[in-house]
Amino acid sequence: MKSSLVLAALSLVFVSAAHAAGPEVTPALLEQGKGVFTVNCVPCHGEKGDGTGVAAAALNPKPRNFTTEPFKNGNTPQAIFDTTTKGLPNTVMAPFGHLPEADRWAVAHYIAKTFLKPAKPAKPAKKGK
Ligand code: HEC
Repeated sequence: MKSSLVLAALSLVFVSAAHAAGPEVTPALLEQGKGVFTVNCVPCHGEKGDGTGVAAAALNPKPRNFTTEPFKNGNTPQAIFDTTTKGLPNTVMAPFGHLPEADRWAVAHYIAKTFLKPAKPAKPAKKGK
């Protein structure tokens, strides 16, 4: 009885952790995200996510180049979801909270999966002589 309670509590923790990162990442979700990105984000961030959309030349600060630049507010899917929802104050990066939540998750996962470089492995420590 006691152990099943612990189990129930544990599974609750796992369920909420999974929820925090949004929906399960599937090919369909990424396809949806690509559609959302193409319509809403490409004019500034560019098809390749490198910040070279048609509107980019006129902008200061420039749209983030997702492939090379650091993200001020983090680049996890959760962070990108939050930025998409709230925008960045005092820039043309507007809040997209009007998009359905499912679309915001889809585009956040699409960006994270498509444009971000996998974290570099830590450099091996230099050997002393
Ligand atoms: C009108 C142009 C424009 C559009 C459209 C646009 N962005 Fe941006 N975005 C920007 C600019 C400019 C910045 C960089 C602002 C800065 O450096 O402070 C930015 C930055 C970002 C960042 C990086 C935030 C960080 O933490 O550094 C994310 C993520 C992002 N945009 C996502 C999106 C998504 C998703 C869409 C589409 C739903 C979108 N943007 C549409 C202009 C745009």
